[in-house]
Amino acid sequence: MALTETLSDVASRLGKSAELSQCGAMRELAQCVSGCDYGSTGNTTREEAEHVARLLGLRPGMRLLDVGAGAGWPGLYLAGLSGCELALVDLPLEPLRIARARAAADGMAQRCVVAVADGAALPFADASFDALSHSDLLCCTPNKLGVLRACRRVARAGVPMVFSTIVLAPGLSEARRQAAMLGAPSFVASDADYAELLAQSGWRLRQRSGVTSEFLRVMRSEHGGMQDRAEALARELGAEVFAQRMARLRAGIAAIEAGLLLRELFVATAD
Ligand SMILES: C[S@@+](CC[C@H](N)C(=O)[O-])C[C@H]1O[C@@H](n2cnc3c(N)ncnc32)[C@H](O)[C@@H]1O
Repeated sequence: MALTETLSDVASRLGKSAELSQCGAMRELAQCVSGCDYGSTGNTTREEAEHVARLLGLRPGMRLLDVGAGAGWPGLYLAGLSGCELALVDLPLEPLRIARARAAADGMAQRCVVAVADGAALPFADASFDALSHSDLLCCTPNKLGVLRACRRVARAGVPMVFSTIVLAPGLSEARRQAAMLGAPSFVASDADYAELLAQSGWRLRQRSGVTSEFLRVMRSEHGGMQDRAEALARELGAEVFAQRMARLRAGIAAIEAGLLLRELFVATAD
């Protein structure tokens, strides 16, 4: 499945995922795994989100853009922590509806806007943001350079961007690459290393850190948590979706344990 999905298949699957993540058992699971109940479809824990807030230096009045924002994790949490203004962008509408409702429930409707858009064609003026973030977006989209260029266009000079992404371990043989793809997001492969993509898109790389052990912990914890709640989740998600998710998690865990899949956190500034 992972090898043949198109971008619109991925957006539709992740949109559906965000909807399903709102059911009771999934929210309880997310709270246990990541310490959040925003309906995350990525791998960012609350601890990582707090680290991102510090790296971005967020404070009231700053304008933050979160691309591939899903149902608002971690963008809404970052805005809640810091008091900053927030724009959330994603391809499917449904997760953004969920995010907007959450912003209203948390009293942040006045400082949060949402937009359905491709991250490579952002509907904002040049130099209109003071900080940018994306969590597990670039491994879910084929046009990584396009997204990084669009982010650079809307960033003010000198401002930070922090992002996480799953990557294939370098130098894999074809057989190991195929094994990795079984448990990886569909667009995990990149033509060029992220350091090169950042340089090509007008970003200066400041920090790059491996967060694979946390990634493995999140995946194992999600798998164990799903097993513990199997009955409720199979009822709420449907037996087929439940089985597919479990199979995906198992393949992902196997690929990380075999050293085929990594996750990294990048900090860059707009040159
Ligand atoms: C793995 S999910 C992560 C969602 C959220 N950031 C989180 O951590 O829960 C990746 C998100 O990127 C979105 N996405 C993929 N390609 C995109 C694109 N070209 N433009 C905007 N969003 C995109 C997907 O729809 C999905 O919501």
